[in-house]
Amino acid sequence: MAGEKDPAFFLLFLLLFPLPQASKILTISFLGGSHYLLMDEISRILHDNGHEVRMFLQDIGGMLPGRQSRQSPYAVSTYSMDEKYIKEFKALFNEQQKDNLRGRNSLDNFMMFLNELSYQCNVTLHQTDIFNFLKEEKYDLAVIEGFNPCSFLAAEKLGVPYIAFFPGPFMNAGKIGILGPLSYVPMFYSELTDRMDFFGRLKNTLMYLASPIVDGKMDAVFQMVINEHFTVGSRPSITDLHIKAELWIYNVDFAIEFPRPLLPNVQCIGGLLAKPAKPVSQELEDFIAESGDSGFIVVTLGSMISSLPLVEFLKEMNDGFAKIPQKVIWRYKRSEWPKEVNVAHNVRLMDWVSQNDLLGHPKVRLLVTHGGLNSLMEAVYHGVPIVGIPLFGDQNENMVRIKAKSMGTFIPPDQMKAENFANTIREVIENSRYKASVMKQSIILRSRPLPPDQQLLGWVEHIIQSGGGGHLKPYSYQQPWYQQFLLDVILFISTCVAVVTYLILKVIRVLIYFMFSNRKQKQN
Ligand SMILES: *[C@@H]1O[C@H](CO)[C@@H](O)[C@H](O)[C@H]1NC(C)=O
Repeated sequence: MAGEKDPAFFLLFLLLFPLPQASKILTISFLGGSHYLLMDEISRILHDNGHEVRMFLQDIGGMLPGRQSRQSPYAVSTYSMDEKYIKEFKALFNEQQKDNLRGRNSLDNFMMFLNELSYQCNVTLHQTDIFNFLKEEKYDLAVIEGFNPCSFLAAEKLGVPYIAFFPGPFMNAGKIGILGPLSYVPMFYSELTDRMDFFGRLKNTLMYLASPIVDGKMDAVFQMVINEHFTVGSRPSITDLHIKAELWIYNVDFAIEFPRPLLPNVQCIGGLLAKPAKPVSQELEDFIAESGDSGFIVVTLGSMISSLPLVEFLKEMNDGFAKIPQKVIWRYKRSEWPKEVNVAHNVRLMDWVSQNDLLGHPKVRLLVTHGGLNSLMEAVYHGVPIVGIPLFGDQNENMVRIKAKSMGTFIPPDQMKAENFANTIREVIENSRYKASVMKQSIILRSRPLPPDQQLLGWVEHIIQSGGGGHLKPYSYQQPWYQQFLLDVILFISTCVAVVTYLILKVIRVLIYFMFSNRKQKQN
């Protein structure tokens, strides 16, 4: 009998139950706002669970305007764009926000934004000291922010295998081979739901056919940077690097997204920032108490937008709030509030709010939001109905889903008028169907088999232990396109059908010819 002190027994024990090993994990975050908030949360989760984590961070200056910076428990390698550039970048962002607030959300603006990312990427890839240091560190795995193409180029340059974490919905589905059937999976930017009539399906199909042109245009923006930083023969394409990811994780949950087919190398881990609420400050608690039974509403237009560059727009919102009985907690940088506008009597401006904690307060009645996924996920988690003012990016598409599932509605920015805004807020607060729907989706979100932080940890460790995600990737990634779409098989079958049809027609003609010539002979 093997005693407990027997070394063989101990060895067997270790083989059966290996101790979880700490891995060296690099996270890459080159964008501010909600993208950074998610990469920060991911880094914390991995760090808290015993891994050695370092973040490769690009600081574009004031990434979370209004928030006190906090010490990160994990290591960070950071560099910053120069101040002149940061000023220009902010000015461009400001101009684009004005366009968005006027309801002009164009592809041109998006391409301009990508151009900036490409410029920044060139600077990033020139950070030789950081690259040399990170190469020496020999990371087991990188978890990269999957929206910015530069993250992929940095991971490739470092030669580290990577998991791509995408902070949005399935915007880039085509590139990683998860285009669903066009009959019920709406293309990104289509503003369609999963229930399409004939013209909806027609629009969806046309958008699909046009999508390679747009995708190609976007990737081309990074070609100069790729040419400069990779030698001939080892130049990757952005699409290759998308497919090269060991795993794709989307910030998606089917409490919001429409059901659709996926692949094993695509996991949905939505709502990493939605958590049980902590108590709010006494000062806010006092303000909320003044609202009596009416309760209060939370207003935030995204982590990056701390003020509105368009005074007309701000006035309409402010006048709308003055017409409702609720108290309003509005995340707005107080120093940037225009002096000529009086803040409505029931509004409290705050430079930064802990949105998740406010949404978990028993007296909250509504979230007014730009429609970013993190905000929506927090609202759904806490069962709070939503009024959206979608401005850019995925926000419109996200709000289409919220509306389709009756969890709220949205106002296109060019229709922002005080009266309309106040009526919409009243309707969503008073009509009980919104609250009922969002409570139902809240249960769906909260009763997931595993909470999102554990899912994330589980998948990251699985990829490290199994030596990559090769076992999850479909063979289609290696197939030439004509094989993937079975064009060779279709060509073969069509040829066979054509040849057989031709032969049958030939035989029929010969038979008819003989029949007629026989008849003629008889008649003669
Ligand atoms: C990248 O930056 C370097 C150094 O500032 C500059 O010389 C080069 O032209 C830039 N390349 C691209 C593609 O922007």
